[in-house]
Amino acid sequence: MECDIRDRGLSTEGKKRIEWAERNMPVLSIIRKRFEKERPLLGKRIAACLHVTTETANLARTLTAGGAEMRLCASNPLSTQDDVTASLVMDYGIPVFAINGEDNRTYYKHINSCLDFSPHITMDDGADLVSTLHSKRKELVPDILGGTEETTTGVIRLRSMAKNGVLRYPVIAVNDSLTKHLFDNRYGTGQSTIDGILRATNTLIAGKTFCVCGYGWCGRGIAKRADGLGARVIVCEVDSVKAIEALMDGFMVLPGVEAIREADIMVTATGDINVIDRAHFGAAKDGVIIANSGHFDVEINTKALEEMAVQVKEVRNLVHEYAMKDGRKIYLLAKGRLVNLSCADGHPPDVMDMSFANQALAAEYIINNKLSISVHTLPVEIDNEIALLKLKSMGKVIDTLTDEQRAYLEEWRMGT
Ligand code: ADE
Repeated sequence: MECDIRDRGLSTEGKKRIEWAERNMPVLSIIRKRFEKERPLLGKRIAACLHVTTETANLARTLTAGGAEMRLCASNPLSTQDDVTASLVMDYGIPVFAINGEDNRTYYKHINSCLDFSPHITMDDGADLVSTLHSKRKELVPDILGGTEETTTGVIRLRSMAKNGVLRYPVIAVNDSLTKHLFDNRYGTGQSTIDGILRATNTLIAGKTFCVCGYGWCGRGIAKRADGLGARVIVCEVDSVKAIEALMDGFMVLPGVEAIREADIMVTATGDINVIDRAHFGAAKDGVIIANSGHFDVEINTKALEEMAVQVKEVRNLVHEYAMKDGRKIYLLAKGRLVNLSCADGHPPDVMDMSFANQALAAEYIINNKLSISVHTLPVEIDNEIALLKLKSMGKVIDTLTDEQRAYLEEWRMGT
């Protein structure tokens, strides 16, 4: 089988961990069992560019159970779990092109290897597959039925492509599903970001000043968890409404340069560029730990940090100490790449269960529907079905509307 991975000998450990994740992905398991019977993806080729984790392995198993042929590459050079790539190749027969720590050239070589088998569906986390296909592999467009996109950053890129009239096939923004962003972005990023910081540094959060840049769903999740661990939380925002929300959620709100004077830990989750920049490094409190939880490694201006430092050394795995001229030290985690997937395992399977249920059902939806060339959201019925299955798997039952209540909601004449 064509593939490019670190070491096939790691497959035993990978399989155990994939099966561990599966225990906490009941919704995806239900879909997989239906896919095994109905084979809705039969004969379709899917190229997926996702973080190669135990959770993604279970998505890949679901798609192939549905009859798809697939290839998988990484959506980030530092998030690949090499034991998972080994097990996917050795135990599940799925071609993977991903090696943890791969350089930029290899990263794109792997994306091209996935595209080489001329997919019918692209599955992205960050839109690198779509953008490579639209810029360098245009000859593949005629075969494509559609694509899916996992993350906020990717959806922003796709909407920009659609607005500029360059998008050439329909894409489903999985991130738009409520069962995706309300849970994955908020509780997934909240927990896994803290997990990454703790595994990298073993620092105590209680009593620290913890700054979160960006108060979208990810930022909210991070702030909530830092608060829960006893930190004093400061939020930095550019959006006035979100800033009020942060205030009323009980957090301080400050401009970034002021916040970093007080910060022991500062995390970016904005999706934008140079959020922690020269001015921030100049003002930073001695010993500050900085980390990024946004999709791309652009949120912290690492180049400027390097230029301003007089010495750089790796003091723990993926913790770099930057010594400044005046003696202050700044600690950068994961080279500015996603801290939750570089220093920890990413979001737990319990939450990826719903995200990847959306991915699997989006692939089926693309095949069963002729979509216009634009960025689509999955129908609300699919979102609700995923939520119901998740509740059921958690042993929770909820109320249903009575006929009288349903009729009341549809009746506009009835007032006081
Ligand atoms: N994105 C965030 N966490 C993830 C995980 N565990 N697997 C795949 N993609 C992710």
